[in-house]
Amino acid sequence: MTEFVKIVEVGPRDGLQNEKTPLTLADRKNLILDLMQTGLKNIEVGSCVSAKWVPQMADSDVLFASLPQDPNIQFSLLTPNLKGFESALAVGCKEVAVFTAASESFTRKNINCSIDESLEKFSDVMRLAKAHDIQVRGYVSCMVDCPYEGAIDPKQVAKVTQQLLDMGCYEVSLGETIGTATPDRVQKVWEACLAQVDAKVLAGHFHNTYGMAIANIYQSLLQGIRVFDSSIAGLGGCPYAKGASGNVSTEDLYYLLSNMGFETGIQVDALMQASRNISEVLQRNNPSNYANAYWQKACA
Ligand code: HMG
Ligand code: MG
Repeated sequence: MTEFVKIVEVGPRDGLQNEKTPLTLADRKNLILDLMQTGLKNIEVGSCVSAKWVPQMADSDVLFASLPQDPNIQFSLLTPNLKGFESALAVGCKEVAVFTAASESFTRKNINCSIDESLEKFSDVMRLAKAHDIQVRGYVSCMVDCPYEGAIDPKQVAKVTQQLLDMGCYEVSLGETIGTATPDRVQKVWEACLAQVDAKVLAGHFHNTYGMAIANIYQSLLQGIRVFDSSIAGLGGCPYAKGASGNVSTEDLYYLLSNMGFETGIQVDALMQASRNISEVLQRNNPSNYANAYWQKACA
């Protein structure tokens, strides 16, 4: 039987949170409507964070409420604290994500607290989420390098991952936040995590600053990881990780996985249309090699 790899599309959130000029709600919604046609089953819609901190994600709850629901698609919202969670709850969101890091400095810059304090805030979120039957995903940024502290000890990544799982996260996505990692270093992080937890509860989130994301995903596949975050047209970045570029593109991830014989559920033509549309809205060349090859072939 073909093995399924879960793709979490983070374009509408990670992809757009770093845009110089925030997209309108209508453009954000159109992107999600396009993505809903692609067969993607998990789509991160936005973040319930402070609009003073990340104006690009303002009104993510309003956006969520405006979307048509599809029983085959799980939407999620990022919620760093109870206030964010309550906004997500009010619009009927069934999955949220909490986010911290393996680096103290990054956590402080990103969510204005220490790692321990972030976990305390999340425990309030977890309690309410359980009461309302809402799934919680966890993120651990800086799985390899931190933009402020440099190299991070894999044991620290494994520790925070374990803490999020113990708290009740059903899955933890490890963020290679600044895209500096190479597969040898990624391997060591998975080794540290897999010594403690099952591959089934882990996901990889690779930024592509140095073009290593696909190599890092291949390494992760070899170690049994079967969930990856990606971003349509390789959009993305983090406002608190200067110089970091976009996520691995969903198009390149699709190409890797489908050619390796994994099932993803993706309808390639619809994916290509979605990536073309958002690239036009942003008036930007698509960095995905596969998308460019696809359109060249289509136009030949
Ligand atoms: P804070 O200033 O410490 O919070 O910010 P506070 O509790 O002291 O409240 C200050 C103000 O923020 C108050 O408003 C609160 O109401 C408001 P005021 O009285 O000044 O008008 N506030 C909120 N507003 C909306 N939603 C909320 C919320 N909470 C408080 N949830 C906070 C703490 C977390 C809010 C802030 O630091 C923040 O919004 N940070 C943004 C973090 C972010 O979105 N980062 C990017 C996503 S993470 C990422 O990209 C990494 C990832 O992709 C993985 C990877 O690549 O590594 C996931
Ligand atoms: Mg990210």
